[in-house]
Amino acid sequence: MSDFLQRLGILFIFSALLIACDSTEEPSVSFPTAFDLEAEVPFYFGSNFEIPEDNPMTVEGIALGRMLFYEKKLSGDNSMSCGTCHQQSKAFTDGERFSKGIDGSLGRFNAMSLTNLLWNQKFFWNGRSTSLEEQALIPIEDPIEMHQSLDAAVAKLQNTPEYPEMFKKAFGDEIITAENIGKAIAQFERTLISSNSKYDQFLKGEYTPTALEQRGIDLFFTHPIAQAGLRGGNCGDCHTNVLTSGDLNGFNGFHNNGLDEDATLRDGLKTVTGKDADKGKFKAPTLRNIALTAPYMHDGRFNTLEEVLEHYDQHIRTSNTLDPLIIEASNEIRSPGDPVKLFLTPDEKEAIIAFMNMLTDEEFITNPKFSDPFKN
Ligand code: HEC
Ligand code: HEC
Repeated sequence: MSDFLQRLGILFIFSALLIACDSTEEPSVSFPTAFDLEAEVPFYFGSNFEIPEDNPMTVEGIALGRMLFYEKKLSGDNSMSCGTCHQQSKAFTDGERFSKGIDGSLGRFNAMSLTNLLWNQKFFWNGRSTSLEEQALIPIEDPIEMHQSLDAAVAKLQNTPEYPEMFKKAFGDEIITAENIGKAIAQFERTLISSNSKYDQFLKGEYTPTALEQRGIDLFFTHPIAQAGLRGGNCGDCHTNVLTSGDLNGFNGFHNNGLDEDATLRDGLKTVTGKDADKGKFKAPTLRNIALTAPYMHDGRFNTLEEVLEHYDQHIRTSNTLDPLIIEASNEIRSPGDPVKLFLTPDEKEAIIAFMNMLTDEEFITNPKFSDPFKN
C-alpha cells in the first residue's frame, strides 16, 4: 500500500515537472525574425542605402506591411488602399494621368512606380518627403486620396480580430499606433526590388542583347560630342547607372528636363527648398518597368515612349532652370542661340526605346510576395 502511494507521489512530482518544463518552453514574448535583405540585393546594385536603426526589416513587419498596403480600411470609406493607385501588374502605378481619390477628386500628379525605393532618399515628384515611414502616412490623410484621419485608421485596425496580434508579432505591442503603421508599410516597400529584367540578365551575363538593344544601351548612356562625332541620347546623365534612377544623394537627382517654359513651369523642388533656382525641377524617376507605367512625367502628359523620345529630341522648352546637361547635348554642331535639340535619327530613337523595353521585369510584377493578400 505504502509502496503504491510512494509511486503515486513520484508520478505526481514527475508530471508536475513536465508541466513546469512545458510552460517554460513556451516563451510569452516572441521576437520578430530578421529579414535576410542581403539575399535579395543583387551585387551590382551596390549598398548605397540605409535602413533606419529604429525600423529594422523583419519577416513579421514585412508581412504586416503587405497587408496594410492592400488594406482598404485605411481609407475613409473603406474603398481604397495604396494598392488601388499602385498596382503590381503596372509596376505599382495606376495607368491614369491623374489618380482619383475616394471622393472622386483628381490629384495633380501622376502616380509613381514603386521600385527599388531602397536606393532613394527623397520621395514624391518634388522630393518633399525624406523617409518611407513618413511618406506612407501622407496619402492616408490626404483629402484627395484616402481621406481618413490617422486616429480613425488606427481605431479601425484596433477593432479587427487579426491586426492587434500582427502588430504584437511585428513590434511587440498589440496597441496599434500610426507610427507603427508607417514603419510596417515602409518595411514592405523596401522589399520591392526589381532585378530580373532582360537588362539585369545582360548585366549578370545571362542574356545577349540583340543588335538594336545593344545600340540602345550605348546611346542611352552616352553624352554626345558632336565635334568628335560621338553620338548619344544623353539619358544616362540623369537616369544614371544600373538602377536607371537619378543620383539621389541629396537633391542632385532633381532636374528640369524641358517640359515647360518659364510662364507655365510648376514649382517642383522649389516647393521644398524655396529657391528660384529649383523651380521646375522634378525627381528623375527610375525607368525600370517603364514600358508598364504610362502615361509619363509628373503630370502624365505623354502617352507613349515614342512621345517621350520626341520630346527630348525635338521639343525641349527653354526656361531659366533648364538643365545644362540638356542645353549643351546635341548630335549636331549648333551655334549659340539655336534651339535645343538632340538630333537623333529615327533608328537611334527606336534603339533607345528597345533598351527601355529591356527594363521590364515579369518576375517583379507577378511575384506572389508583393501581391494583394486579400485576393488569395
Ligand atoms: C489616390 C491614389 C494614390 C493612393 C491611394 C496612394 N498613392 Fe502613392 N502616389 C500617388 C501619386 C499621385 C504619387 C505622386 C504624388 C506627388 O509626387 O505629389 C504617389 C507617390 C508615392 C510614393 C513616392 C515614390 C517615389 O519614388 O518618390 C510612394 C513611396 C507612395 N506613393 C506610396 C504610397 C503608399 C504607401 C500608399 C498607401 C498608404 C499610397 N502611396 C497611396 C498616388 C496614390
Ligand atoms: C537633365 C536630366 C535628364 C535627362 C538628360 C533625361 N531625363 Fe528623362 N527625366 C528627367 C526628369 C527630371 C524626369 C521627370 C520630369 C517630370 O516629370 O517633370 C524624367 C522623366 C522621364 C521619363 C518618364 C518617367 C515616368 O515615370 O513618367 C522617361 C520615360 C524618360 N525621362 C526617359 C528619358 C530618356 C529616354 C532620355 C534620353 C533621351 C532622358 N530621359 C533624358 C531627367 C532627365
